[in-house]
Amino acid sequence: MKHFLKETDFTRSELPGLFALARDLKRKRGKKGAPTPLKGETWAMIFSKSSTRTRVSFEVGIHELGGNPLFLNRNDIQLGRGETIADTARVLSRFVHGLVVRTFDHAEVQQLADIGTIPVINALTDLLHPCQILADAFTLAERWGHGKDLVGSLRGRKIAFVGDRGCNVANSWILGANLLGMKISLAGPPGFDAAPEFDQLLAREGFAGGYKFTTDAYEAVKDADVVYTDVWVSMGKEEETKERIRVMTPYAVTKKLFAAAKKDALFMHCLPAHAGQEVTQEILDDPRSIIFDQAENRLHMQKAILATLAASRRK
Ligand code: CP
Ligand code: NVA
Repeated sequence: MKHFLKETDFTRSELPGLFALARDLKRKRGKKGAPTPLKGETWAMIFSKSSTRTRVSFEVGIHELGGNPLFLNRNDIQLGRGETIADTARVLSRFVHGLVVRTFDHAEVQQLADIGTIPVINALTDLLHPCQILADAFTLAERWGHGKDLVGSLRGRKIAFVGDRGCNVANSWILGANLLGMKISLAGPPGFDAAPEFDQLLAREGFAGGYKFTTDAYEAVKDADVVYTDVWVSMGKEEETKERIRVMTPYAVTKKLFAAAKKDALFMHCLPAHAGQEVTQEILDDPRSIIFDQAENRLHMQKAILATLAASRRK
């Protein structure tokens, strides 16, 4: 049975099939005969943090695949009052067919997967946001693959991530880029490195040193095919807001910084965005900004992930 806790839970050889499935589900959406591989299933979604895109795309996606999404705010279930992750995993495994989990500590999704008997999908932890990165990669592959070699079209391309280089989205892009054969450079202020846990994970996956880091945003975006940023204050870091804004301001994606990337570079952001902080409104609105395609593709890629995990459970 398969879980999706990190990008590398899909092997390189599985990715072309996954991307093709996402494309197929996107084409067939709303049409007669659209596949319903989750028919008769209930998938629980335990969320400990706020969400617009992830929550809605999973609820809609599970429904469209014929299943029933069951949204559970952490504080509405006994988990929020101290029931253990282990018992929650054991109990929910008796009721539902899969779990989608958004939480703080990555160890929680790992424990749910280890102890439960149903597939678990990581819908964002402090460490990683793998659903975002696969949807983003699919968005790029749609543009560059011209409907043919989707995954192959990403190979050798360069992504530059500027801002909070130690956040979940940056970490996940490092893993994703290495898995997909892309190059990745990150720029941000010193002192905001990834957690040691992430470097250990990268080494375990055989990707130690698989990224470049600089404190110079212009150096990072040079020759980049994609300029990517995320909020400077991730969920759970609110107490550091003042300091983060102060030190990250030189890493804002402005017209000038974006112009230092390749001429036909694309701008990406996982959203929500804070215009005037990590990116200007002008860049968000630029024709080379593909932020809403990214958001839409969360739905199609996650449906492909759900269908694949459901099938792995039935084996
Ligand atoms: N990008 C993303 O995961 O957005 P939400 O926090 O709104 O789900
Ligand atoms: N890094 C951000 C991503 C939000 C989708 C956060 O964790 O808040």
